[in-house]
Amino acid sequence: MRVYRVKDYDEMSKKAATILAAQIVSGPEKALGLATGSTPAGAYRYLCKWYQEGILDFSEIRTMNLDEYRGISREDSQSYYYFMKENLFGHVNIKEENTFIPDGEREDADAVCREYEALIQSTGGVGLQLLGLGRNGHIGFNEPSDSFIKECHCVSLALSTIEANKRFFENAEDVPRQAYTMGIGTIMSAEKILLLASGEEKADALSRMLGGPITPRVPASILQLHRDVTVIADEAALSKI
Ligand code: GLP
Repeated sequence: MRVYRVKDYDEMSKKAATILAAQIVSGPEKALGLATGSTPAGAYRYLCKWYQEGILDFSEIRTMNLDEYRGISREDSQSYYYFMKENLFGHVNIKEENTFIPDGEREDADAVCREYEALIQSTGGVGLQLLGLGRNGHIGFNEPSDSFIKECHCVSLALSTIEANKRFFENAEDVPRQAYTMGIGTIMSAEKILLLASGEEKADALSRMLGGPITPRVPASILQLHRDVTVIADEAALSKI
């Protein structure tokens, strides 16, 4: 695992965008695994800027997002579909039919998850998977639990995640209680992983991920077993190492 220590959020975002851009340029045939949340938004801003400057071309790129709330419409400003449109897809020349996100509008969880997993595996898997880190150590929406769940599945969100994500909603009651997510096995099957962490509120999770035991109680700790992980974290996120 390579860990890059950077000064702050902007430095993290720029470095992450450089790695994503290299993947876009060198390996457009493999899907790019994308993430949502405040952590990757800065990196997406750099990618949009470099596209506008003519440096990047997204026309051959295929993307697979990590997760989506269950029971949310695409038009809902809190859906991850909407987030991706606002933060990246709406500003670059990516083809809509090449962007994939679990379908939060469909309530049939088994079908959504089975089809999404099959889609990822049948199209050659993910080349580079971008990840944020939950305050409780979750990746995607793989919450702390008694075992690692391998494939795409439907999860009930941890109370701490509802609490952390309510900042995006009007009230905590509006935060969906369930989500569809790539499983730990789905994430681990990516060729390369790029995890970003910024801010003091990620310091505990990051130190447990990097130095603690590998346990489903800290889902991100499984990344210690992946052969090609790059972590970019700022000083605040690394303050407990
Ligand atoms: C969310 C998402 C994760 C994200 C994490 C951190 O619940 N499901 O994919 O990495 O929590 O979010 P943020 O980057 O906003 O801190």
